[in-house]
Amino acid sequence: MTSKVKPFFIGDIKIDPPLTLSPMAGVTDFTFRRLIKKRGGVGMTVSEFISVEGMTRNSPQSKRMMRFLEEERPFAVQIFGANTKRMAMAAEMAEGIGADILDVNCGCPAPKVVKKGGGSGLLNNLPLLEEILKEIKKAITIPLTLKIRSGYSDSDINSVEVAKLAEQCGVEHLALHGRTREQRYAGLADWDLVRQVKEAVSIPVSGNGDVTSVETALARFKETDCDGILIGRGAMQNPWLFRQIQDALEGREPYVPTLDDKQEVLLEFFEYLSEDMPELAALGKMKQLAGQFTKGLRGGAKFRQTLFHSQSAEEILENIGNYFETLSSEGADANETAEDSVETLDSCEAVSV
Ligand SMILES: Cc1cc2nc3c(=O)[nH]c(=O)nc-3n(C[C@H](O)[C@H](O)[C@H](O)COP(=O)(O)O)c2cc1C
Repeated sequence: MTSKVKPFFIGDIKIDPPLTLSPMAGVTDFTFRRLIKKRGGVGMTVSEFISVEGMTRNSPQSKRMMRFLEEERPFAVQIFGANTKRMAMAAEMAEGIGADILDVNCGCPAPKVVKKGGGSGLLNNLPLLEEILKEIKKAITIPLTLKIRSGYSDSDINSVEVAKLAEQCGVEHLALHGRTREQRYAGLADWDLVRQVKEAVSIPVSGNGDVTSVETALARFKETDCDGILIGRGAMQNPWLFRQIQDALEGREPYVPTLDDKQEVLLEFFEYLSEDMPELAALGKMKQLAGQFTKGLRGGAKFRQTLFHSQSAEEILENIGNYFETLSSEGADANETAEDSVETLDSCEAVSV
């Protein structure tokens, strides 16, 4: 890589390039990860967060959520919960199904998770977090990683303290989303905290929050000296973002996806979904996510409406075909108009756990 940024290691697992598809409940399932990984530039994938209560009771949903493809490796299973014994059991199960890494969620702000002490609730209970991390370490041989928020609230920013504690407990990588629990998704992530955490510990640290372009990624690496970056919402709007950042890190011009690439990504996504679930469910997922991929394209808002009203696989494929045909007949300038700009994205709160 021409820049100072290099692949890094979690234990003996190489994260190359140092870019991770950030876990997003209801989004980064098997099919979505497969789609994004195939576009290139993803150094690590992570499951959606999985409840240890479900996992340790053999819930079929948890089993589904742990599925991954060989080509995704290195792959981390992310668990959440607050019961030490169940956290350790679930960690062992993740190792048993062949995950490369076990990640503990210490960031989810959803009330139903936090009320039971899990997710970002653990930032408020460091003795319990310590106990959980130590028990998990005893239960597994694969590396243990932690994903945290900057603190519970503005008056409780404790990411440096948590990072040091995690390191002492044998955690081998820390990812920091620079927002507090209270902040949810409002405002901007505080990347200076990423810099502070990186300075405070010797394990690798990845920063996270609001990276949606090559320029932002390069700037965040430079400002914080972090080892890696996690990208969540940016991957939905631009599945090629990882590849583009990798290009820049390795001294190449970032790849510019063509209209054909954009059409292919939609068709491929629908194909993967159809392979994995009944038609109705695939249609629902397509409506939820496919619109994101067309952000920034001319007429994208209108296209999303037609997607939303599609009732069958046939109709959805026809609408995709028509849309891209119109775009290519309009010539090169298929790019964005102001009215097609950003829509709000939901958090893990939208998902039942
Ligand atoms: C829909 C959605 C679901 C999420 N689910 C999870 C999750 O399961 N586990 C987790 O650690 N973070 C979860 N997050 C947080 C993201 O991983 C990431 O930390 C956050 O979105 C900030 O990064 P971004 O600006 O690149 O999206 C979720 C975020 C969104 C938008």
